[in-house]
Amino acid sequence: MEFMGKLVGDLGAMASIGPMIIGEKLGLYKAMAGAGPMTAAELARKTNTYERYIREWLCAQAASGYVDYDSATEKFSMNDEQAAAFGSEDSPFYFLGALDFAVAMMRDEPKILDAFRTGNGVGWHEHDACLFRGTERFFRPAYTRHLIGEWIPALDGVKAKLETGGIVADVGCGHGVSTILMAQAFPKSRFFGFDYHPASIERARAAAAAAGVEDRTTFETASAKDYPGKDYDMVAFFDCLHDMGDPAGAARHVHETLADGGTWMVVEPYANDKVQDNLNPIGRVYYSASSFICTPASKAQEVGLALGAQAGEARLSKVIREGGFTKVRRAAETPFNMVFEARRG
Ligand SMILES: C[S@@+](CC[C@H](N)C(=O)[O-])C[C@H]1O[C@@H](n2cnc3c(N)ncnc32)[C@H](O)[C@@H]1O
Repeated sequence: MEFMGKLVGDLGAMASIGPMIIGEKLGLYKAMAGAGPMTAAELARKTNTYERYIREWLCAQAASGYVDYDSATEKFSMNDEQAAAFGSEDSPFYFLGALDFAVAMMRDEPKILDAFRTGNGVGWHEHDACLFRGTERFFRPAYTRHLIGEWIPALDGVKAKLETGGIVADVGCGHGVSTILMAQAFPKSRFFGFDYHPASIERARAAAAAAGVEDRTTFETASAKDYPGKDYDMVAFFDCLHDMGDPAGAARHVHETLADGGTWMVVEPYANDKVQDNLNPIGRVYYSASSFICTPASKAQEVGLALGAQAGEARLSKVIREGGFTKVRRAAETPFNMVFEARRG
């Protein structure tokens, strides 16, 4: 019965995906955040929606613990934690970007089913566009919380270099979230974003223009093994080394393109080295996403090493060292990420 109880909880999470998507699209969460207790009729009026549906939606949210319910007044409200997770895309704890991952995984299931049978890969670019949007929206809050204030200062001498003016390559940059945050924080430095996926590069360019950092950012379509340029002070890989087919080949190219004394920052999903130590809620998220996204992405490229999203420090360090780096250390970590520093020379 305990196991069935767990499964009912999981079923509730699965059944919540659709209502949560609607809540975001209709601005229901936004309308509740900071607004105090309200009835279904009040929320419906505020969001120009139909009251009976909103009442059912609110009850589902309350049963999930995503909003609070006061039976005395029959009103629903959002506390500070709920508002931080659901209320605004600018919140450093915004959670709803994760929904795009769930949608992409379901839409791509037929392709992945086939890959499980054939052993073939499914390239990052072959996924539903929800995945690219979801990566941007879900990763941005964590990067906003940690990148400038914690991860870069944890790297030896990098913050000082970027403050006075350094040259940085952000490889596998996707929609350029990390590139733009760094460009905003270090206006004297120059940032080059590379990704093999042309549509992501287009989106990164538009996002940089909207953020007002066009003057110090350049985005180009290129792979991790052949991106142009030399003598970078820092090369950064955010959550992409394990997605690559030939991460050791990429490591060699990073080593060739760094300046002497330059730093390679590798941000990877948090993972322990042994499977049994990853059998927890975070490992559950990563192993599931990895079986649908990261492992097929790597299998679609040359070598197809398929590190997976739970590669762990020992395997990642080995790949980094294969590129010619002799000094590798874990510089920082959060419950979701590990940050490695590898120095050239
Ligand atoms: C999980 S996403 C991370 C995107 C971005 N770094 C971020 O953190 O928001 C992985 C990215 O790696 C890119 N990628 C995968 N293989 C690549 C390769 N061999 N060369 C360059 N980019 C690659 C994908 O196109 C995708 O944008």
